[in-house]
Amino acid sequence: MSHYKIAQIGGDGIGPEVLDEAVRVLEAVQGDGLHFSFEAAEVGAALYRRTGEDLPRETVDLCRAVDAILFGAAGLPDIRHADGTELTPQITLRMVLDLYAGMRPVKLYPGVPSPLRLPAGGRIDYVILRENTEGLFASLGGGSKVGEELAVDTLVITRKGTERVVRRAFETARVRGHGAPADGVTRVTCVDKANVFRSYAFFRQVFQETAADYPDVRTDFAYVDAMSMYVVQAPWRYDVIVLENMFGDILSDLGAATVGGLGLAPSGDVGDRYALFQPCHGSAPDIAGKGVANPIAAVLSAALLCRWLGLQHRDPAVTAAADRIDRAVARALTDPRAHTRDIGGSASTRECADAVIAAL
Ligand code: NAI
Ligand code: MG
Repeated sequence: MSHYKIAQIGGDGIGPEVLDEAVRVLEAVQGDGLHFSFEAAEVGAALYRRTGEDLPRETVDLCRAVDAILFGAAGLPDIRHADGTELTPQITLRMVLDLYAGMRPVKLYPGVPSPLRLPAGGRIDYVILRENTEGLFASLGGGSKVGEELAVDTLVITRKGTERVVRRAFETARVRGHGAPADGVTRVTCVDKANVFRSYAFFRQVFQETAADYPDVRTDFAYVDAMSMYVVQAPWRYDVIVLENMFGDILSDLGAATVGGLGLAPSGDVGDRYALFQPCHGSAPDIAGKGVANPIAAVLSAALLCRWLGLQHRDPAVTAAADRIDRAVARALTDPRAHTRDIGGSASTRECADAVIAAL
């Protein structure tokens, strides 16, 4: 019997709404040999307005005490620091828990409309590995502004920070095993701006040195500007992509747009010890409280959580749960009646999740 303790951190806006549905799905896959218990904790901009704290000590302690963390979204555009930036406890948590690999699968499910015109048999199924703790985000809270005339943020690339996320990318390519949809080749693409900046040339150098340990996986390189065209023109050529934090932030939202939008894009923020799973989207204040948010990104994040637990604990029961959730989502999405508004349907958040649970 496996028993996993999960922190349930809803946060702001639609965060709690979609997370409730992800928890219902996890409860539905429990059964012979697998059990989850959930403990809730608070985070976010609304909490900050109420209490003066956006990431309380108890929440961080809980994150360290559980087997995995399920997170909704945090931040509200109208609650800001005096310098104009927003509260971003989700980014602070990545730093505090050293969640260095941002895993963002980009996968088009049958039945979901893509804005791209796919060739017959063309499939989109790749994973972005976003470095999560340095790059431009190393400057979080540390940039400087001089009077009203000048502001500076600094981009940081370290050997250690690059090597560990690159290793994670090669290991992800091996675990996936099926390679890029176009040719079945297991491949990791390094995306950077090594033609112009020393920092990105160093990122590429460390990538190449690390790649030598994975001779079975093919390497590939692209500059980020061209890459933003390639993932629109021929996304089926990609298997695993690894890149700096800010580039990963941007390219993963672009990737999400090609497979139905943020409502379908899950993520895992993974370190050596801790891991947090959350939809790529934010708190979506424009639709919060209306019961119309797409819960699929949160549900697929719960599936990633199960997959990570399976690898971490070598537990086939929880890996099987990940597979079941993936299949149930794929099946539910073939029926337009399960589609929420963002992908052209009229299902509510609850109805969409019910369709996944029915398919389970
Ligand atoms: P957003 O992802 O919240 O929303 C962008 C657009 O996508 C909106 O039109 C929204 O309605 C739509 N959308 C997002 N998730 C959806 C879902 N599940 N179903 C249907 N439609 C969905 O990004 P935005 O507007 O840039 O940011 C809103 C707030 O969220 C800000 O305060 C921002 O800082 C925060 N944020 C938090 C993140 C996190 O907690 N990981 C990530 C991104 C933004
Ligand atoms: Mg983002």
